[in-house]
Amino acid sequence: MILRQVRDTAADAEVVSELSLAAFGAPSDDPARRSAPTPLQLARTRHLARTDPGGCWLAVSGGQAVGVVLSMRREGLWMPSLFAVRPSAQGRGVGRLLFERALAHAGGCLRGMVCASDSPAAARRYRLAGFTLHPAMRLTGRVDREGLIDPGDIPVHPGNATHLHLLDSVDRRLRGSAHGPDHELMLGHFEELLVADALAGSGYCYRDGGVVRLLAATSKRIGARLLREALARVPNGVEARVEYLTAEQEWALDVGLEVGLTPATSGFVGVRGMRPPTPYLPSGAFL
Ligand SMILES: CC(C)(COP(=O)(O)OP(=O)(O)OC[C@H]1O[C@@H](n2cnc3c(N)ncnc32)[C@H](O)[C@@H]1OP(=O)(O)O)[C@@H](O)C(=O)NCCC(=O)NCCS
Repeated sequence: MILRQVRDTAADAEVVSELSLAAFGAPSDDPARRSAPTPLQLARTRHLARTDPGGCWLAVSGGQAVGVVLSMRREGLWMPSLFAVRPSAQGRGVGRLLFERALAHAGGCLRGMVCASDSPAAARRYRLAGFTLHPAMRLTGRVDREGLIDPGDIPVHPGNATHLHLLDSVDRRLRGSAHGPDHELMLGHFEELLVADALAGSGYCYRDGGVVRLLAATSKRIGARLLREALARVPNGVEARVEYLTAEQEWALDVGLEVGLTPATSGFVGVRGMRPPTPYLPSGAFL
């Protein structure tokens, strides 16, 4: 078996997506993702291969890709974004070798953050790498619009590339690190960016269909306002989903309960060298 860096090519992006679908299994509620990778999955691989070649590795055995790790460094914060081994190759140390290689890319980063699945093997790898694992919840269901009572005292409006400095400032305050180049990708692929920038504080969130992808705010009040607005904009009849809520994000759990979403345990948020940022809902892929 050899390990090689992921390349910024369409072929490598396809290989990574195929591996990821094989390792995670197809989500039963989303038929579109059963056979084909999403444009964002393909673009994410190429983007990270460009920005973080030393953090993105493929394991290849007998000419077939058997495992992948994608990870990124952003201003002293190291974040694994994807970690997957083909089911037929799991449990034989492929993941450990890949993860060790990615970990070398974390050199000099005092902080780390990861959104982990329920996989015990992944939890073991992350804990052994010094991550503190915070059990997480996800909220799913149809939004009960009667529960969407909002004082509306903090204006929220659609955002775009002109807000990048604001987004980076909010992230630096919350997690000591901006998303920087990742916003270009998120702006290009997520349905909308919502921004709050008032005397009371600032924040932003991405919504893509029914999914709230990433939310960062300078106060719980702004966070709750953004989350309500994002949920209000989920199209009628579409299932809403909010992921990676740790106990620190009770403000978000309360909003979810207000609008009738169902909480369930799901995965972990791992952090090292820092506390979980709050009010903050990480995105699995871009953290
Ligand atoms: C997580 C994953 C990438 C790990 O790859 P892998 O090649 O199976 O992992 P390895 O064989 O290198 O290591 C598995 C480790 O977990 C341990 N492990 C495996 N199953 C375990 C279990 N049920 N409980 C505790 N530890 C377990 C093994 O002992 C081994 O530890 P060691 O190397 O320190 O002895 C792979 O299992 C996978 O793709 N899972 C599905 C997708 C997923 O959930 N990815 C993680 C996203 S955060």
